[in-house]
Amino acid sequence: MITSPTQIQITSPQKHSRTGDGSIDLVAATSTDFVGLRTDPEALPSSLSGIKSQNFGGAKPASLTAEFQVSNLNMFYGSAQALKNVNLEIYQRQITAIIGPSGCGKSTFLRCFNRMNELIPNTRIEGQILFRAQDLYAPNVDPVAVRKTIGMVFQKPNPFPKSIFDNVAYAAQINNIKGNLKEIVEHALIQAELWGEVKDKLKQSGLALSGGQQQRLCIARALAAQPEVILMDEPCASLDPIATLRIEELVRDLKKEFTIVIVTHNMQQAARLSDYTAMMTITEQEEGKRTGTVIEHGETRHLFTKPRDSRTEDYITGRFG
Ligand SMILES: Nc1ncnc2c1ncn2[C@@H]1O[C@H](COP(=O)(O)OP(=O)(O)OP(=O)(O)O)[C@@H](O)[C@H]1O
Ligand SMILES: [Mg+2]
Repeated sequence: MITSPTQIQITSPQKHSRTGDGSIDLVAATSTDFVGLRTDPEALPSSLSGIKSQNFGGAKPASLTAEFQVSNLNMFYGSAQALKNVNLEIYQRQITAIIGPSGCGKSTFLRCFNRMNELIPNTRIEGQILFRAQDLYAPNVDPVAVRKTIGMVFQKPNPFPKSIFDNVAYAAQINNIKGNLKEIVEHALIQAELWGEVKDKLKQSGLALSGGQQQRLCIARALAAQPEVILMDEPCASLDPIATLRIEELVRDLKKEFTIVIVTHNMQQAARLSDYTAMMTITEQEEGKRTGTVIEHGETRHLFTKPRDSRTEDYITGRFG
């Protein structure tokens, strides 16, 4: 686990410009100058408990701590509103699944947690996301630092055209992770449950691995940056059932150390893997405008057995979406 300082260091004060070069390359987007949002889960300010949970899922169990608190979140691509009035909490060291029909804003919502949307030109958000009581979008928070602490794994495995070792080492180096590079790489590959399969061919290209191995390599690469949270956008979408189960086992294991938010179209995966589920859908706004929102959020076992919203029931039973 990361052992860096417990406060944000203001590295590049900036208003969120909301513009960028359009690339969404997490590792390349991270930098060496971060410094950790709060890293000690026990060090959460008591003020957190005073913030009213706006979950749709009822009271938060006393044993859980809020990792993220999303309040009145709206998100826009230019003039098109993609997310409307999203309110929920994500709990620490829990797996939260985000489900919902195509185009309802799951990926957009996920990218709000590590400020990746602002790499897309002309995006804008309103509302607030607190990460361990720190406003992620405060003017003095460095988005690059945020993306190091809150890592991301994408739908399609995207190793760099480099060796297996270098794929992971690069993430550690660019994030200025201190320590013996070989040990850091080995540790990340062990954490990603890939070490046994690649330890004798670390100089081989990452692109020569199977799809499932490539995805675990990408997870190792994300872990080498020593994040606190891992966001996963349909990480098994391109994998066969065996490789999918392998990733699921890995994700379950990673939960011991990380908070995980995973977007999935696979209802069985959401049901068997996640502790909490957020159901999103598209709602028709005035003037025929369609916007994504969260309609239900709660414990997975409840949401899948006794959904409160008929749209959730329709979706999870395959009647819609
Ligand atoms: N870069 C972008 N520029 C403009 N609009 C975008 C962009 N990315 C997404 N959108 C729009 O935002 C809405 C939500 O898209 P998003 O990709 O978040 O949906 P999703 O739920 O992840 O869909 P899927 O399940 O197909 O991956 C859609 O209407 C989409 O067209
Ligand atoms: Mg998506």
